[in-house]
Amino acid sequence: MASETSRRPAFAKWLGDTNDVTQIFLSAGQIPGLINMAGGLPDPQTWPIKAMSDLAAKAVQDHPTDALAYAPIEGLPALRDLIAARFSAPGLLLSRENVLITSGGMQGLDLIGKVLLEEGSLIAAQTPAYLGALDAWRPRRPSYRPMRLDANDFAPETALHGTQFAYTVPNFSNPTGRLVPLADRQALVAAAQATGTWLIEDDPYGTLYYDSAPLARMLTLAATGGAYDGPVIYLGTLSKELAPGFRVGWVIAAPEMIQALVMAKQGSDMSTSGIGQRITLDAFASGLTDSILPNILNLYRDRRDALCAAMRTHLADLFDWQTPEGGMFVWATARNPALNTDHLLRAALANGTCITPSSVFDPTGQNRRAIRINFTFNPPEKLTEGIRRLATATRACLAEAA
Ligand SMILES: Cc1ncc(COP(=O)(O)O)c(C=O)c1O
Repeated sequence: MASETSRRPAFAKWLGDTNDVTQIFLSAGQIPGLINMAGGLPDPQTWPIKAMSDLAAKAVQDHPTDALAYAPIEGLPALRDLIAARFSAPGLLLSRENVLITSGGMQGLDLIGKVLLEEGSLIAAQTPAYLGALDAWRPRRPSYRPMRLDANDFAPETALHGTQFAYTVPNFSNPTGRLVPLADRQALVAAAQATGTWLIEDDPYGTLYYDSAPLARMLTLAATGGAYDGPVIYLGTLSKELAPGFRVGWVIAAPEMIQALVMAKQGSDMSTSGIGQRITLDAFASGLTDSILPNILNLYRDRRDALCAAMRTHLADLFDWQTPEGGMFVWATARNPALNTDHLLRAALANGTCITPSSVFDPTGQNRRAIRINFTFNPPEKLTEGIRRLATATRACLAEAA
């Protein structure tokens, strides 16, 4: 007779669409002595612990209902107002109806998938694309039209035509660290307006500019002077500028999109943690987020420079890359097409370091030529040693492939 476990209902088919490479690099953090350059993690030393514990105490003592009751699905009205005011600009009039508070930026991606995707729907995605977005939309098994924004022949209107939405990370994309220039942002917004397609601006790294002033957001470029009702769906988060454990983010969009997302959130987690929202409100209102930013920028700029210096010493003959002007990642492409970076991940782990291979950022899983290296989590000396180990692993991998 069939065993009890073999008679259990099958898991949903999409679960079979994931790959084991993701599991390997996500669990690498547990290996002792490993220099982990795979994650997208802020350095815990940037967290303002005393200030945040004071804000947490204040949230519970002074605002017990906000902090401890079920919060409204849309988010605390005062926080929605604050986000609307913070992101308004000349010509861009935002109000609370344009804002939904989410449990991290990740929930925004998930909810957008829930309200816009049917099985097999078409998404135009800046490629390579953020793994978390691919994961969020995987249950709907969408098709992807890759958008290579830096290609000479990139035609935004053709790319967006017929899609449910276009997905972009204009500020220091995860994984490539690439900054989308102003002219491309303008062209994408114009294409979204011309085609009627939604345009997602996923922006966790928007404050992490190390060398220059921030470029205009696509949300701002889509402004038409009145109350905002445009095609850009902007996703923000506190994860990179304050702390990821908060799980507080926000969506700014046309009111009809916010209402649809509220329906999806109701069936998801009902509301984002009230205490997290209350702390967020006070962290913005008290100027805490702005006051810690200069130190974060100095720390990460030094680390980016240390990583790139180590890469020039150890990897110059093996990879090509561009120094990113912000964010958390360097994207490096192998000079030798024989290098398979899924294999390199395993060799790197055997040599005591970890990077993320390109296959996980490719909707088709086929790109095995590049790697993403994080520079924000480790101090300079560890980054240098990590890159030395990576060079050893790369040479071993190439020798095996020859
Ligand atoms: C491009 C991008 N979007 C969204 C997120 C999700 O961030 P969170 O859910 O922590 O706000 C991340 C996190 O690394 C990211 O890199």
